[in-house]
Amino acid sequence: LKRVGLVGWRGMVGSVLMQRMQDEGDFAHIEPIFFTTSQAGQAAPDFGKAAPALKDATDIDELKALDIIITCQGGDYTKEVYPKLRAAGWNGYWIDAASSLRMDKEAIIILDPVNMHVIKDGLAKGIKTYVGGNCTVSLMLMGLGGLFENNLVEWMTSMTYQAASGGGARHMRELIKQMGIVHGAVADQLHDSSAILDVDRLVAETIRGDQMPIDNFGAPLAGSLIPWIDTKLDNGQSREEWKGFAETNKILGLSDSPIPIDGTCVRIGAMRCHSQAFTIKLKKDVPMDEIEAMIASANDWVKVIPNERDITARELTPAKVTGTLSIPVGRLRKMNLGNEYLNAFSVGDQLLWGAAEPLRRMLRILLE
Ligand code: HSE
Repeated sequence: LKRVGLVGWRGMVGSVLMQRMQDEGDFAHIEPIFFTTSQAGQAAPDFGKAAPALKDATDIDELKALDIIITCQGGDYTKEVYPKLRAAGWNGYWIDAASSLRMDKEAIIILDPVNMHVIKDGLAKGIKTYVGGNCTVSLMLMGLGGLFENNLVEWMTSMTYQAASGGGARHMRELIKQMGIVHGAVADQLHDSSAILDVDRLVAETIRGDQMPIDNFGAPLAGSLIPWIDTKLDNGQSREEWKGFAETNKILGLSDSPIPIDGTCVRIGAMRCHSQAFTIKLKKDVPMDEIEAMIASANDWVKVIPNERDITARELTPAKVTGTLSIPVGRLRKMNLGNEYLNAFSVGDQLLWGAAEPLRRMLRILLE
């Protein structure tokens, strides 16, 4: 059995990964070694497979003894440990959820239902570093992979509706606290005969007021939104918007002749599902039934939702999708702009396909 080091298994993405690995029986195929940044020597967690006591995640000698390392520990850990480990001559496989190494020439961004050919190519060339993509990018490609596979996309915009979990566990708690405070401010005035404009004024004052916890988001999110995610680049894009272009093309192996992609990334008050609205300029006018068939057949998780109100409200929402691997794509129609302009909307769980799932699938590819 391959010796597989697990780092950052206790955090949010790591916990989702451990759950998925248990659900899929991955532990039966590996010898797991659990690492920690603070509790070396304590007993390993029980995921149904015996493992030695926790080892120090910064101990290069311990790490060097592994065949494969999967880390959800974050970018700072990767920046600190990865160069030292490679410099020490370690030639094992590094599978990482953090973004630090993504655009590295020696790294492949993994999303095997979409880019198995790029992954296989990398393995054949001896590439040893495999990094999960940005969640928004991975979820977009899981939804629209069929259009890219058929070389139909001339350019695309993506307007996002991103969940609190993209910021981290503390952001999710903060969103719920904000919601509670807003509700609490008017809870006794929500009967049918209350004066709605008084309720609204109180809600607005509360949202803007000092008691709203905003340490993590930097602004109120409940009852509002924040049209900025991550840092600012020189061209006015946010880093999240830049990733939509750079990572998509790298995942598809198109970095030399990239497809133009841009948009606006927005944080909204969903828990863990990112939604996206797309305008897609097609290379040619393709009939809607063919487009729907291409999208639906691209992988086992994407599902075309008919462009009808009731089923859309039922199926194409974070409320429906959260906690599942399903990737519904709907609102599919040709736009008023012309027959080569396609409208689409997708939803996906950013902790599953957006983070944990591609990592465990890469592990299974290595074990084949
Ligand atoms: N950057 C993403 C977000 C999450 O903030 O929603 C991770 O890819």
